[in-house]
Amino acid sequence: MVSTTAKTTTYFNFIDGSWVQSVSGNVFENRNPANQDDLIGVFQRSTRADVERAIDAAARAYEGWRLVPAPRRAELLFRAAQLIAERKELLARDMTREMGKILDETRGDVQEAIDMTYFMAGEGRRQYGQTVPSELRDKFAMSVRQPLGVCAVITPWNFPMAIPSWKIIPALVCGNTVVFKPATLTPLSALSFVKILEEAGVPPGVVNLVTGGGADVGDVLTASDRVRVVSFTGSTDVGRTVSEKSAPSFKKVHLEMGGKNVIMVMDDADLELAVEGCLWGGFGTTGQRCTAASRVVVHESVYKPFLDRFVQRARALRVGDGLDPRTQMGPSVSAGQLETVQKYVEIGRREGATLACGGHPLIGGDYAKGFFHEPTIFADVQPSMRIAQEEIFGPVVSVVPCKSFEEAIEIGNGVSYGLSASIYTRDINRAFAAMRDMYTGIFYVNAPTIGAEVHLPFGGTKATGNGHREAGTAALDVFSEWKSVYVDFSGRLQRAQIDTAEL
Ligand code: UN1
Repeated sequence: MVSTTAKTTTYFNFIDGSWVQSVSGNVFENRNPANQDDLIGVFQRSTRADVERAIDAAARAYEGWRLVPAPRRAELLFRAAQLIAERKELLARDMTREMGKILDETRGDVQEAIDMTYFMAGEGRRQYGQTVPSELRDKFAMSVRQPLGVCAVITPWNFPMAIPSWKIIPALVCGNTVVFKPATLTPLSALSFVKILEEAGVPPGVVNLVTGGGADVGDVLTASDRVRVVSFTGSTDVGRTVSEKSAPSFKKVHLEMGGKNVIMVMDDADLELAVEGCLWGGFGTTGQRCTAASRVVVHESVYKPFLDRFVQRARALRVGDGLDPRTQMGPSVSAGQLETVQKYVEIGRREGATLACGGHPLIGGDYAKGFFHEPTIFADVQPSMRIAQEEIFGPVVSVVPCKSFEEAIEIGNGVSYGLSASIYTRDINRAFAAMRDMYTGIFYVNAPTIGAEVHLPFGGTKATGNGHREAGTAALDVFSEWKSVYVDFSGRLQRAQIDTAEL
């Protein structure tokens, strides 16, 4: 798995059951975003040859794995869930070092992987199909799920263990094999996850890990006609490329992309609760969730008291190293991500929004070696401004005033994304109307836009997705396809739609 010298640990790819170096001989570094002096390790910078080997291994392993009964496949997954649970604390600490979010949240990320693995292992005994009466005599009709083959799993850095589990575990329980390309910013969490699957007894070739960049690894996976499914979570721009590159081979493409999620605070809301929700939704994970509440639409009659309280609480958030238990918000994940945040702060200022708090990177002292930024709130934002339309993926929240419930819904829906939305109100009629009228894949009442649970479908509308859902039993639809089976036991030719059965 690794080779260690006094200074550095080098981590390998996992192909066909062995931990191996890239044939390129190249590696890349992974450093802590809270402290760039902290080198987590070096990882393989893989190339086409490594990916082709992994696809070969996965294609070979598929022939055996697809025939293992699903409840037996699930037994290995139950064991994996147990191992993740046993190592939760260590995995969470590694993850905080690797991508910066605070320990409470990385523990949550690992917990989400545990939950998903247990849930999907249960699906090993529940891959139900349909049995229906045939229109002909002495004929049996049913539908069964079948696996597709090699699945490419391409994951982001913001949920380094949870999101891989959403994809890899259902792929396996359905009988597919996997080539896994994690984000280059979080290879260690990916590697630990794969190591656990190996220890749980998943056979060689069934799960393969290839680290490296999108152009070197991702493109080979999407272009390959031996890969039958690509499941991708990341930006809308990259998702479009994944979709285009996958199209010529007609593979199944599952995309989970950006969001510009909204919390709507109505005039009858519990304001204290709404402020708590907006803090957690907007600044949790440093705003780096696809479900982050980057917009808050507030009824004008409560606008001022809400904003005053929200700004006061955001200013008081303790920013720092996520390993420090007192920290409430960690760094941005990388220099590039911090630059994006700064760029949007500048855009917001130029567009004429009111900078209500924050707006600056944190530099010097404890912040000197990381990518820290103040929690930032723009007030008096117009719905058409770029800061109210584009995904920032950082600690920047846009507060938009509105005059009515109807206007809140219009503003809420007035973006190109459709992942998550929420309403704070005490009026049950409005809550249900909003639940119906917000065109998103996820909706919350009196809770922020983040916090999806693993046993319900996860995904979004419009530019957030391409019609698929992961998590819940919906994930089985990504990683299996239907086969309809007819068994004629009449002993004669019966022509459907032509020979009608006599009464
Ligand atoms: C993501 O933002 O990419 O609902 C995933 C949530 C988490 C998952 C978020 N359970 O916020």
